[in-house]
Amino acid sequence: MEIDKEDLKREIFSLIDENKINKIIVSNPLSKNNKFKKIVIENKLNHYLECAITEKQSFSKNLSTKEIKDKIFLYKNEFKQYNFFTNEFEYMIKISKKEKMFLTKTKTEKELTIANSSNNRMKNYILKEGEIIPPLIDMGVYTKDGKIINSMYDKYRQINRFIELVDDYIKKSDIKKINIIDFGCGKSYLTFVVYYYFKTIKNIDVNIIGLDLKEDVIKKCNETAKKYGYKNLKFELGDINGYKPRFDTDMIITLHACDTATDYALYNAIKWNVKMIFSVPCCQHEINSQIESKNLPIITRYGLIKERISSDFTDIIRCNLLKVMGYNVDMIEFIGFEHTPKNILIRANLTKIPLSVRKKYLKEVVDLKTFFNFEQTLYNLLRNSFENINKC
Ligand SMILES: C[S@@+](CC[C@H](N)C(=O)[O-])C[C@H]1O[C@@H](n2cnc3c(N)ncnc32)[C@H](O)[C@@H]1O
Repeated sequence: MEIDKEDLKREIFSLIDENKINKIIVSNPLSKNNKFKKIVIENKLNHYLECAITEKQSFSKNLSTKEIKDKIFLYKNEFKQYNFFTNEFEYMIKISKKEKMFLTKTKTEKELTIANSSNNRMKNYILKEGEIIPPLIDMGVYTKDGKIINSMYDKYRQINRFIELVDDYIKKSDIKKINIIDFGCGKSYLTFVVYYYFKTIKNIDVNIIGLDLKEDVIKKCNETAKKYGYKNLKFELGDINGYKPRFDTDMIITLHACDTATDYALYNAIKWNVKMIFSVPCCQHEINSQIESKNLPIITRYGLIKERISSDFTDIIRCNLLKVMGYNVDMIEFIGFEHTPKNILIRANLTKIPLSVRKKYLKEVVDLKTFFNFEQTLYNLLRNSFENINKC
């Protein structure tokens, strides 16, 4: 499809502003005498790494977001093709001799893999079946010879996928040490696996605290961590709401923390400027009990759909509010619906979001809340911060 140059520029700049582009490849030189055969630009979280590739060499340079924006459309003087990769899409742009631009937008391979059958997915798992993580034997996830117990397969797949998404992020960074809190850790299968991933697979110095309201599970998890010498893995009894961290927290994880527990976890993360958030919400009941739609009664007529819409409203509001507070956010269907109906993962990393974008996302939340007349916990917790944003 032919695309207007200015429209394309706007779309690409907005993806750059929102830190959504992972990689750019500029290829197909206009002349075979071009010194550079290809330019590969990778998003390294705080900057971009440009590699200009000749027949025999590669020249690397760090670029800021501004430099990328200034430079990106200048490559077209030497090349005929761009490929932009986000988590969701690949944008392929071909430039004709008459300088017309043609765009093909396809789902990225990764998204397609997520949507693929669970058998195919198994091949890519970071934790391979048979790889023994000792505490998981105690917890009844593995048999002694490393086989997954049938009834635990769904949990195992969720955890493995969760780790893959964390790994996608960690691969891009050069983290040597990390402090993590798992809010609403429950029996802590995920917590133990995240610890194992950082400590044993990545050899990164890790401290993890799992927090939960249940005394018996906290006691058992601490005993298990001690038994296996996981000395930087601790479990604490307590409420997410009002929790005071023991360390500077780099990452927050939550897996199915019930209802508004996810809002308190996200609020803590925002308040403490936590860089990375991986959160799978659950039991989003708050809006369902309030939502009214006088102007659009069809939305709330059927109980089942009302519940689903309320749940989706909760999560889109959370994502928008994270954006408002400066996070780059993705919503990922992290595992097939057959493994858990609560299969959306919110992935966020702290970045710089332009004020105009933050205001736009805030307005969208206010409009939605006003139209359907409900309160939302994360919004209420952050209310004071919005005054500052609106004043600017
Ligand atoms: C559905 S379980 C999930 C447990 C674990 N993350 C997993 O995926 O297996 C939710 C957990 O969140 C805990 N929880 C709920 N609200 C909490 C709060 N306000 N503070 C701490 N823990 C909370 C519950 O006690 C429960 O163990």
